[in-house]
Amino acid sequence: MDDLSIIGQSLSRPDAPEKTTGKTRFLTDISVKNMVYGAPVYSSIPYGEFTQIDLLDAEKVNGFIDFVSAKDIPAENQIGVIIQDQPLFAHKTVRYIGDSIGLVVAKTQEAALEAAGLVKINYLEKNPYLSIDESRDAIEKFIHETNLACHHRVRKGDIDSGFDKADQIIEARFKTPYQEHYYLEPQACIAFSDEDGSIKILGSLQCPFYVQKAVANVFGLSYDKVLVEQAPTGGAFGGKEDIPSEVCARAAVAAKKIGQPVKVVYNRRDDVQLTSKRHPFQMHYKVGVKNDGTLIAAKILLEENAGAYATLSTVVSYRSAAHAMGPYVIPNIHVDSNSYYTNLPPAGAFRGFGSPQAAFGHERMMDVIADKLNMDPMELRLKNIIKPGSQTQTAQILNESVGAEETIRKAAKLAQWTSFDPDQSGRFKHGLGMSAIHYGNCLGAAGWHMDGSGVNIKISASGDVYVAYGLIEMGQGAETTVTQMTAEALGVLPDRIKVLPTDSAQVPDSGPAVASRNVVMTGNAIRDASQKLMPILKKSASQLMECDESNITIKNDKVTDNQSGTEIGFHELCDFMSKSNIPMEFTGWWHTPKLEYDAETGIGEAYFSYSFATHIAKVRVDTFTGQVFVDKIFAAHDVGKAINPAGIEGQVEGGVVQGIGWATTEDFKMDHGVVTTPNLSTYLLPTALDSAEVETIIVEKPEPEGPWGAKGIGEPSIIPTAGAIANAVSSALGIQMNEIPLTPEKVLTHLNKTE
Ligand code: MOS
Repeated sequence: MDDLSIIGQSLSRPDAPEKTTGKTRFLTDISVKNMVYGAPVYSSIPYGEFTQIDLLDAEKVNGFIDFVSAKDIPAENQIGVIIQDQPLFAHKTVRYIGDSIGLVVAKTQEAALEAAGLVKINYLEKNPYLSIDESRDAIEKFIHETNLACHHRVRKGDIDSGFDKADQIIEARFKTPYQEHYYLEPQACIAFSDEDGSIKILGSLQCPFYVQKAVANVFGLSYDKVLVEQAPTGGAFGGKEDIPSEVCARAAVAAKKIGQPVKVVYNRRDDVQLTSKRHPFQMHYKVGVKNDGTLIAAKILLEENAGAYATLSTVVSYRSAAHAMGPYVIPNIHVDSNSYYTNLPPAGAFRGFGSPQAAFGHERMMDVIADKLNMDPMELRLKNIIKPGSQTQTAQILNESVGAEETIRKAAKLAQWTSFDPDQSGRFKHGLGMSAIHYGNCLGAAGWHMDGSGVNIKISASGDVYVAYGLIEMGQGAETTVTQMTAEALGVLPDRIKVLPTDSAQVPDSGPAVASRNVVMTGNAIRDASQKLMPILKKSASQLMECDESNITIKNDKVTDNQSGTEIGFHELCDFMSKSNIPMEFTGWWHTPKLEYDAETGIGEAYFSYSFATHIAKVRVDTFTGQVFVDKIFAAHDVGKAINPAGIEGQVEGGVVQGIGWATTEDFKMDHGVVTTPNLSTYLLPTALDSAEVETIIVEKPEPEGPWGAKGIGEPSIIPTAGAIANAVSSALGIQMNEIPLTPEKVLTHLNKTE
């Protein structure tokens, strides 16, 4: 561990020069021979049936080629990723404004869009369900077989006797809103249909193997007949996890019917209207505590707006249930996490899978409790925080890599938590707010069956190392960490490593690129491959250098015989191996450890490992305008081992800014299912001026199962931010702010109420 030469360095990103100079060719920049364009035709009503499709006007558009719909699907009209509830093209029923009816294909993008707008559809409207409450309370006419899309629970201890033993029982309700991913590059793909019946996809996507499976099902093809290559991807954040399966499969149906490559690129309005978002949550917390702050019992209800189709709601409800009370010890707990169908765009995966919402609940709740007990919120957290040997809320004992307490202490020290004493007499009120979280790495017990990933490492005669991996680069810096881990494992310098674009033909199905999996999964797969490769490299070196293989070290591109001191270059060894017919290609694989978990009670090992973090927000609130200024976020993260510290800072800064947006400026609105904030003038992403100074604090408590001790950072970076901001604003104003976004309107309304 001490002997690392490449891991732990802040290497720059191999993809950075091309991306920052605009040379990277994203899908919009790519044209292929005979390519035509597809534009979606979708429901303009939130709920009902369509009776007729009239193409007369659409067909008159110059360049119109065809209209593709349910009847053109070769095999199965089904695209549901976990629950099979979503047709690829609506057959009769439409369940949200944006539900796909068909795809117009035309010679140009403009013609396709124009014709799509001219397709006339007659509907029989039904009364839509537009809120969680309406959906939950319905007794008939459900959107699917039932309105409950999915449910997860935790039942630990005895909740009633727990509340009996409590000195105080405190209740509060919290609400979190939609969040639109707003990846800068919209959904995009090109689908090719080959004469031999196979389908090829080039797409902006997160999960090549999801797309492969979806297209194979829709066509009734075996997986080897569907090749999926990831194009450079301009952001995803979970929004290119489920959605590309439908975008690519529809384009593929069109490509097959027409016999030409079909490109689909959503315009922004369609992207925002049609695709998934972060689930809105409404939450009820009832927590019993001792007067000294010890948590005794909690009864928690989380309710989620799933939208028209379940997509990844199952994951969101599982994760939010398992994380509902945060990184604290609590003997008795009862959680229900229910996801309800509504006639709104489907909610899906978004950085954290329901954890940011649950974290807002438990971290606001901790401050509400601290306020009631007249206790310092940090002291309340430290009193209950998970330590090595503690039990999580799902009764999992964590012995190693538990840095929760250290993240609180380090963030508090830098933020000068205990001495914060601002002048509150003026127009601006100041506040510090703390938020601590844990986050289960990878897919956990619910997704364990598919939680394995692979790499393929090929070494050329010249000593260049090609790495194919099954997860992907979507802007997070995966190429850099994969480069570093491979270089470290093989003892070569990073510039020898070429990370290949992800291609389903090059690596085994590695599951989805989600859940902060890349470093852990790919890193362990690299280690597996290198453990197979190293003995062969050393044995070959001993033949070439005529020495004992136990005396060989390979490090920083040099192969050394430690006894004689003789040294050769790595490339010389590779040249020798190539000429001696010694294999130089290896596959590495890693599956997460088996987890003992009972889905009925939600008790057991929910995840094999957890990342921990604490954010402290320093805010100023303008009491004249209601505007919240987030001046600084102190972000302490236990990452196990920092593979690339600069990469971690990048992830943390990105996550924090996205969290600031969700907590303050982003205010996603719909009117009867029509998104009324479909662009950047109405949906306010934080700009440089809105974002805070971010101080990243790296805590390293090595995870024994992680590669070189590492754990995930992609999602933990956003999870605590909104809670910290709301706690800071609540503290500044002396008002419990239990709902985000904290827009000036909302803050002023609260201020006026209390005057
Ligand atoms: Mo995701 S919510 O991209 O793990």
